[in-house]
Amino acid sequence: MQPSFETDRLILRPRGLQDLDACLAMDRQPGVTKFIEGPWDDPVRHRTFVLDRITRAYPPGQGYWSIFEKDNPDRFIGWVLLIPDRDDVEIGWRLIPDCWGRGYATEAARPVLAHALSTLELSRVIADIHPDNAGSIGVAEKIGMRPTGEAGDFYIRYVAPV
Ligand SMILES: CC(C)(COP(=O)(O)OP(=O)(O)OC[C@H]1O[C@@H](n2cnc3c(N)ncnc32)[C@H](O)[C@@H]1OP(=O)(O)O)[C@@H](O)C(=O)NCCC(=O)NCCS
Repeated sequence: MQPSFETDRLILRPRGLQDLDACLAMDRQPGVTKFIEGPWDDPVRHRTFVLDRITRAYPPGQGYWSIFEKDNPDRFIGWVLLIPDRDDVEIGWRLIPDCWGRGYATEAARPVLAHALSTLELSRVIADIHPDNAGSIGVAEKIGMRPTGEAGDFYIRYVAPV
């Protein structure tokens, strides 16, 4: 069962098919996928990829959460994910550029990480972040994640708990 969350300014609820077009539109906005590998430049593969991510079954309590402002609850503004990644569980975040720089990503990621560690009792949660993606590194650090020292060609690995 994937719960919903409420923060001071935001509502997070499980992402559904009704969010598909808004997710695709977000990904097409300038800069949104700059630091993320994926089929973003091919409209057919992009749609297939997001559709698969929306409709696939995740382990209990995991998945994607769509984010909405309490002040404007009909507008999709992004998502937070908590999904399996090989032997780990990954947390991630993506917002429409119009909503960057307001602290929303950090505010949305906090309850998802707490849920992962406290409710699901996961032993660790990772985030693989491009070293130049300062905004995303900022979110990871503000929610209490720290670098593990592991890195790939295109990412630094962050982990919680530390
Ligand atoms: C990564 C991403 C989600 C970060 O978004 P963001 O808005 O920069 O992140 P935050 O929620 O931490 O907000 C940042 C700024 O909001 C500002 N802010 C304004 N009002 C605020 C408030 N009420 N509370 C907190 N911060 C506030 C802060 O100054 C903060 O900047 P600082 O930490 O440098 O001081 C966003 O850039 C994005 O969607 N990028 C594209 C997708 C992506 O790269 N995802 C990550 C892949 S690893």
